[in-house]
Amino acid sequence: MKKSMAHTVYTNKKFIEDYSKNAETNFFNAHLERPATLSLLPDVNGKTVLDAGCGAGIYSEILYKKGATVKALDYSHEMLRLARERVPEGVAFIEQDLNQALPYPDKTFDVVLCSFAVHYVKDWVSLFNEFSRVTKSRGLVVFSTIHPIMDVINLPDCHYFETQTIKELWDSYEVWVESTRRPFADFFKIFEETGFIFDKMIEPQPLPEAKEKFPGHFEKYSKIPHSIVFRIIKK
Ligand SMILES: C[S@@+](CC[C@H](N)C(=O)[O-])C[C@H]1O[C@@H](n2cnc3c(N)ncnc32)[C@H](O)[C@@H]1O
Repeated sequence: MKKSMAHTVYTNKKFIEDYSKNAETNFFNAHLERPATLSLLPDVNGKTVLDAGCGAGIYSEILYKKGATVKALDYSHEMLRLARERVPEGVAFIEQDLNQALPYPDKTFDVVLCSFAVHYVKDWVSLFNEFSRVTKSRGLVVFSTIHPIMDVINLPDCHYFETQTIKELWDSYEVWVESTRRPFADFFKIFEETGFIFDKMIEPQPLPEAKEKFPGHFEKYSKIPHSIVFRIIKK
């Protein structure tokens, strides 16, 4: 399969080392998305959890320390190298593209977590069908992505009601990244079509301590939602 622009970015050694270090403490992950995503996870002690698009393993480490049996995947061998350094034992990391069928038996997981990765996959019906297949009945999928309203604000060519491939410049890293955006209503259609029931949703707001550390971002993203986090239940 032809590798995407996002794959080129996420296997660029310099980029991912900077990005992964940053993600531990930055505004968008540490002070906005991660607290909200973690708040939607159940008690994972003794549960089997998939960290899909695990990146440098920040969530894998948290899940492992909370007592979960963690399996994790990413299509970037460079990200996986950092993840394995972060969590040297106890997590089964594999190189795997989310555009492909997942290499796990049916009903393997109590929880599937997918943080900031689904927007790199165009075909959400196939992706969520795979999440559905590998999740136990009444199990949970918790995922975060970019809020659909952000694209309307940021992209001059955004057609809100269409599913679009978009390219964005990440200023602070000077890289172009390609992803797919879709209207809000499609999320719910896809949940239904792939065997899930909507449970909870959060439009994260910055943590209070971000006001001093990142005043510009705090001001902006206290008014405009950057991310969105869902919890859906396998029927
Ligand atoms: C923004 S990072 C998020 C990493 C991690 N989930 C976190 O929140 O710290 C997105 C990750 O998704 C991975 N990714 C993107 N598209 C993917 C795909 N098609 N299959 C597997 N991993 C993918 C990237 O390699 C990258 O590690």
